Amino acid sequence: MPRLIVVSNRVAHFGQDEANTGGLATALKSALEDQGGIWFGWSGEVVDGEPSPPKREQYGAVTRATVDLERDAFHKFYTGFSNGALWPLLHYRADLMDFHHAEHEAYQQVNERFAAALMRLLRPDDVIWVHDYHLFPLGSYLRAMGAHHRIGFFLHTPFPPWQVMSALPVHARIAEALAAYDIVGTQTDDDAQCMREFLRRTLHLTVVGEECRSARGRMRISAFPISIDGDRIAADAARTVGSLASQNLLKSLDGRALVISVDRLDYTKGIPQRIAAIEYFLKRFPERLNDVSFLQIAPPSRDQVPAYRRLRKAVEEAIGRLNGQYAGFDSVPITYLRKSFAQSTLFGFYRAANVGLVTPLRDGMNLVAKEYVACQDPRNPGVLVLSSMAGAAKELDAALLVNPHDPIAASAAIRQALDMPLGERIERHQALMQRLKENDLETWRDNFLRSLINRPQEIPIPHLKPSGVIAVAP
Ligand code: UDP
Ligand code: G6P
Repeated sequence: MPRLIVVSNRVAHFGQDEANTGGLATALKSALEDQGGIWFGWSGEVVDGEPSPPKREQYGAVTRATVDLERDAFHKFYTGFSNGALWPLLHYRADLMDFHHAEHEAYQQVNERFAAALMRLLRPDDVIWVHDYHLFPLGSYLRAMGAHHRIGFFLHTPFPPWQVMSALPVHARIAEALAAYDIVGTQTDDDAQCMREFLRRTLHLTVVGEECRSARGRMRISAFPISIDGDRIAADAARTVGSLASQNLLKSLDGRALVISVDRLDYTKGIPQRIAAIEYFLKRFPERLNDVSFLQIAPPSRDQVPAYRRLRKAVEEAIGRLNGQYAGFDSVPITYLRKSFAQSTLFGFYRAANVGLVTPLRDGMNLVAKEYVACQDPRNPGVLVLSSMAGAAKELDAALLVNPHDPIAASAAIRQALDMPLGERIERHQALMQRLKENDLETWRDNFLRSLINRPQEIPIPHLKPSGVIAVAP
């Protein structure tokens, strides 16, 4: 097995029970700890002045190699183009896209800098696996700098139809960047199909099955749905039953049923729509007020982006209004925690919850949904209410699937979940666990890497001059 080099903007923290928010960091951490290799990316530090050379730390079989970002690059590359333009667009929200040419230029420059730093760490037989939308152009810069390695890319977000993507003024640059990889992985077949169509219409590549071809070569775009290590998580959750945090949570419920939601404070997660569904539920079924408690864990995220600041204000106002109207002197309907928790703590909370309410408006996969399932007690499992707009819904179709835009349907699903008889809960849970067993984290990683390593190396390599304009071979 060649040495694995994983590259992503966000690199997980290692060490005792650190909170890592975001599915990318949590999934890759487990995938890499098992296999070993180098994980290269942003240190999470923003510096004034010149960034220092990559810092290397060793954690068991994993070398964590990270670079800092200068303040201006952080604003333009991370806050600006990545999270102010690409993130909303990839989640079908062209209306929220805030595009600036200068930020896109900085995005290209950071990718070029990452590529140059990475080149110094590479051995000839390494396999490189690049992750997520911050680093679309990284592969083409590596190629331009002479890397002849197998280079794969995995997109953790959805990929929208061409009509949405083409709203990005520099969408051709993104298409050219994608074409430089040997294989691109997406979360679902729908995403893969949209991406192939995007390359067909933008670069005039011919699509044959999962292959995109030009006269010069070919590359492949296929779905590799990301997953979790279900067995490990189930064992962790069973162990946390007696933990102080879980015991205290159960005590605070005072016999009420618990409905849990865990999301970064992100407008894609549908939190205001969920609050509207809860409000409808309390209005429609007032007799349930005293027997159910909602817990919303929402770690802050990307708070330099205006749309995230607006969301936080809207969520906090809506929860305040709802609690003001429905709280009693000894209980509040929604407990809102704007902070992150270590996964071991979260797993205990999931297990204590009768319902997992996961209702994003659009989500690449949503690992919280999968983790909630894995954490249940198989003899007395809780029920997952899941948005049909999450990638996870393709596999977890034994959950109660809802349209997150419909408060009446979501409220009915909450009620159905709370009242579901034990036999049906066990049946649904077994079906969900079966899906998680068929495709776990190891299967995801191995399928992708096997496809990448076995790939004949003949791709449409873009002619890319460092810092220059990319032109794709005809
Ligand atoms: N998570 C965590 N602590 C928190 C909140 C979330 O460790 O306080 C983890 C959670 O367990 C999951 C990931 O962050 O593994 C969130 O991934 P998901 O795919 O649901 O959403 P994303 O944040 O990637 O959009
Ligand atoms: C999503 C993205 C990841 C990102 C994570 C957390 O999962 O797909 O690339 O790391 O959110 O967001 P952040 O901006 O904090 O890295």
